[in-house]
Amino acid sequence: MTPGFFISFEGIDGAGKSTHIEAFKKLMQDRYPDREVVMTREPGGTPLGEQLRALLLDAPMNLETEALLMFAARREHIAQVIEPALQAGKIVISDRFADASFAYQGGGRGLSLDKLNALERWVQGRADGSLLQPNLTILFDLPGEVAEARRSKVRAPDKFEKMDLNFFEKVRQEYRRRAKDDPKRFHLVDATQTPEVIWNGLKQLELQI
Ligand code: TYD
Repeated sequence: MTPGFFISFEGIDGAGKSTHIEAFKKLMQDRYPDREVVMTREPGGTPLGEQLRALLLDAPMNLETEALLMFAARREHIAQVIEPALQAGKIVISDRFADASFAYQGGGRGLSLDKLNALERWVQGRADGSLLQPNLTILFDLPGEVAEARRSKVRAPDKFEKMDLNFFEKVRQEYRRRAKDDPKRFHLVDATQTPEVIWNGLKQLELQI
């Protein structure tokens, strides 16, 4: 156990997590004025990780290569940012973390669970044998076609956002499977609701910080 608290935001592209994450950071800061709140993202979060992000979101690549680079960026992120902040008692909010690799590279592209579990153990394993996981994962869940309709309104799609509906349905199902397996860690948000209703729900979340 570390003195900090680790929150991740997840969901398929177009689910609306970006609409709420900045406001959620402010909510945490207001609610816990004595704790520093650190906002970060994956892939990215470090200078090296941001360079890897640019490659990952643009260049087509072999599936194993993609998974290894995602986890390489994550290793750097954990070592440079997440673990030091948690050890210092900070609240860390990350726009995506390892569940995204299980959902996108696993569910979406079909990388085996064995390989993902091995990478997770390698990259998130701690000296005491435990795995670094978020204390809370807020999952924005909605059907792929609703997300697709929202995405097309905004901006030019990156490599993942160009994938078809079938891909996003598989990503969604893997997120949901993981949420079902770990109901204590996951908070599921019905992302078809209006932003106001979603925000009211987030404000009422009770956290064991
Ligand atoms: P996203 O978080 O949606 O950022 P933005 O809002 O700027 O588009 O983009 C990150 C993309 O990377 C998203 O499509 C999911 C993908 N991704 C993976 O495929 N695997 C991972 O492990 C992570 C962290 C992200």
